[in-house]
Amino acid sequence: AVISVRAWEVLDSRAHPTVACAVFLEGGFVGRAMVPTGASTGQFEVADLRDGGERYGGLGTRQAVERINTVVAADLVGRPVGTVDDRLSGPSNVTLAVSQAAAKAAAAAAGVALWRYLAEGDDYCLPCPMVNIFSGGRHAEGGVRIQDFLAVPLAAPTFSDALEVIWKVRRAAAQLTEGRYGRLMSRLVADEGGLAVLGGDDAEPLRILAEAIERVGEPVGIAIDVAATQIERPEEFLSQLQGWVAEYPIVSIEDPLGDEDWDGWQRASSLLGPIQLVGDDLFATDPARVRKAASLGVANTVLIKPNQIGTLKQAYETVREARTHGYATVVSARSGDTEDDIIADLAVGWNAGQIKIGSLMRSERLAKYNRLLEIEAFDNVHYGGWV
Ligand code: PGA
Ligand code: ZN
Repeated sequence: AVISVRAWEVLDSRAHPTVACAVFLEGGFVGRAMVPTGASTGQFEVADLRDGGERYGGLGTRQAVERINTVVAADLVGRPVGTVDDRLSGPSNVTLAVSQAAAKAAAAAAGVALWRYLAEGDDYCLPCPMVNIFSGGRHAEGGVRIQDFLAVPLAAPTFSDALEVIWKVRRAAAQLTEGRYGRLMSRLVADEGGLAVLGGDDAEPLRILAEAIERVGEPVGIAIDVAATQIERPEEFLSQLQGWVAEYPIVSIEDPLGDEDWDGWQRASSLLGPIQLVGDDLFATDPARVRKAASLGVANTVLIKPNQIGTLKQAYETVREARTHGYATVVSARSGDTEDDIIADLAVGWNAGQIKIGSLMRSERLAKYNRLLEIEAFDNVHYGGWV
């Protein structure tokens, strides 16, 4: 049973306040966790609680912390850890902080790794990483409107081989960026550790990334996150995206349209058809929105961000809903993240198949890649690869 619940305020990778939490169980077991925060948040996400006022430009989380330490703690103390998620409600930085810490504590009490604790039977594998190489939009502010240009290893036999091939792509992309924009631009990094270019040409990162992949000479695909909810008139991108799919080795497109544009999404789904079409803001990790998309034949892959919906239990329901409808799943970090590596275990234990963490740069990203390397090295979990 839960002995105590303690929360406190910490800083995320953008140095914005966020919530950390520890859940203590009988027997001396403890789980500690931190909550990430998005910048390109969708309207259907569960909101987090921010203090407003002067502290940290209004982004303080003392009210969320206070709520956990009083109301939530009083409700949970004495209850079995397995019942925690069902009792949580309210802002996502309150619920997810407690939910994640409780899951880690439960795994510790069970004497197994979190991924093992979460796995159903033998259905698990190491996920295929989609790795950010160039950033634009809200994550870089360099003028490019598209948020994310990513590299996907298509033929690596193991997770560590997958990382190494992407490492080569990022290095080649940085060298090409240095040649075109100088050393400074090749060294500065965006919110998720990606490179950025100057000027408003949306195709420029794509051209450099394609050239970097050619230089490396191994099978690597390109993924794009348009994050269209942040863009005015994204419909105009559709024919452009179609052209890019014909010209570049694009294997996945995320949020090509806004999160309420079901008609546009239907058009995109038939136009861009066989490639992977990921809904992020479209689904907001909500099983009801997955059901709606399935009934309309929209998208084919669901991005899973636990803080969009509030608890791990709810996020896993969305994974299962996706699976029921034949949709693939990608567990994802947020652009404001922390050194908490929990999503690595979630991706393995939930058998998500894919993971999106950010670039191979900045330790809040590497913490998760390194945790996956640890699982590969010690737990002998096989790599699922690109499907
Ligand atoms: P966010 O970006 O965390 O800023 O929402 C990530 C994404 O759009 O996939
Ligand atoms: Zn996205």
